[in-house]
Amino acid sequence: MCAHPLLTTVPARKYPLVMRNPGMVPIVLAHARARLVGSPEGRTTCLHADLRDPARILAAPELTETLDLTRPVALCLIAVLHFLEGDEPFEIVRTLLDPLPAGSFLVISHGTNDLNADSHEATAKIRQSGVRLQPRSRAEIARFFDGLTILDPGIEVVHRWRPEVEPTLADGEISIFGAVART
Ligand SMILES: C[S@@+](CC[C@H](N)C(=O)[O-])C[C@H]1O[C@@H](n2cnc3c(N)ncnc32)[C@H](O)[C@@H]1O
Repeated sequence: MCAHPLLTTVPARKYPLVMRNPGMVPIVLAHARARLVGSPEGRTTCLHADLRDPARILAAPELTETLDLTRPVALCLIAVLHFLEGDEPFEIVRTLLDPLPAGSFLVISHGTNDLNADSHEATAKIRQSGVRLQPRSRAEIARFFDGLTILDPGIEVVHRWRPEVEPTLADGEISIFGAVART
């Protein structure tokens, strides 16, 4: 399972499954279905689903007929969990990880207010506009990885996670932590 932009960097042999939310513009879904086709190297598909219904995602034919869950896979939740409030996303991640074989990966990036004093005000404005944004602290984000082995360099501001070039922005301009862990 992975988020769309990662498809360009994940080999098709990894059987990517893209999950998008119910509110997405229909034309985006149409383009995704047209373009996210399989290849001889592997299968690719798109599932139109709400992350808050992980049981439906796990039971969906798009998943069961695409992913080989006898082999490790990567569950990539990129810049999405901060749209889910309270403890719900922690339960969702556990539910999605449950059927994955040992050696699978959990990849998360998640917005935070730890790094920029102004971001609390920005978050409040975004929430006033109706978007249920919930940035989390590094310690809170660490909860997603409880019981897993977090790979080096740990939970890091994403532009410092194994950068190929020296970061040029301040951490507070990024304000997104990321990490990769192995089950
Ligand atoms: C900041 S974008 C990140 C998109 C993509 N993961 C990326 O990295 O480019 C957040 C995405 O989360 C999706 N999203 C928000 N709430 C969702 C939910 N409950 N279920 C599924 N997707 C959701 C939005 O539709 C949007 O595509």
